[in-house]
Amino acid sequence: MLAGYDRNIGARHLDLGPGTGFFLDRCRHRSPRPQIALVDLNPTVLTKASTRLRRFGPDTFERDVLSPFELDGKRFDSAGLNFLLHCLPGGMAHKAKVFDHARAHVVPGGRIFGSTVLATGVAHGKRARKLLGELNEKGTFDNRGDALADLEAELAARFTDYRLTVRGSVALFEARV
Ligand SMILES: C[S@@+](CC[C@H](N)C(=O)[O-])C[C@H]1O[C@@H](n2cnc3c(N)ncnc32)[C@H](O)[C@@H]1O
Repeated sequence: MLAGYDRNIGARHLDLGPGTGFFLDRCRHRSPRPQIALVDLNPTVLTKASTRLRRFGPDTFERDVLSPFELDGKRFDSAGLNFLLHCLPGGMAHKAKVFDHARAHVVPGGRIFGSTVLATGVAHGKRARKLLGELNEKGTFDNRGDALADLEAELAARFTDYRLTVRGSVALFEARV
């Protein structure tokens, strides 16, 4: 996942669902002064991640990525959606709208990338299967219906240049806008 950030992040980066900001803290930025915008539904996440990333002076936006959202007209070279889709409700066609909502803010030739835990089409060890059940019960994950083939179909419907790889239970994707 970190390699995905290193490979795809641009000088102006939009991160959807940044969590703790771990990857933006650790990845290799293109520029010594990257412009970073963080989008999340949860204001506590935004406070925590922006504090961790304060050396970059990130902008924060409290938004629901499942609906189209405004970012004060800002445009970005990349958008990251790491470990976001498996948290979202609905089927893959519904979750994939996030690609459209992100793409609206990314310049032509920019990158959209991330990863998600899938339920089918990938390998699950015994412990992973148990954890997947528990996380879905708790509502932390909502990915019981998420299949590799459906994710690939949604990427293929939107992007001509994309890459989808699988590591264990996780699908990693990157696409050129
Ligand atoms: C599992 S965390 C991902 C953390 C981070 N990207 C990483 O890879 O370490 C999922 C993040 O998505 C956010 N999130 C979940 N649903 C969302 C929604 N509908 N709109 C915006 N953010 C959402 C959560 O608040 C959380 O910060």
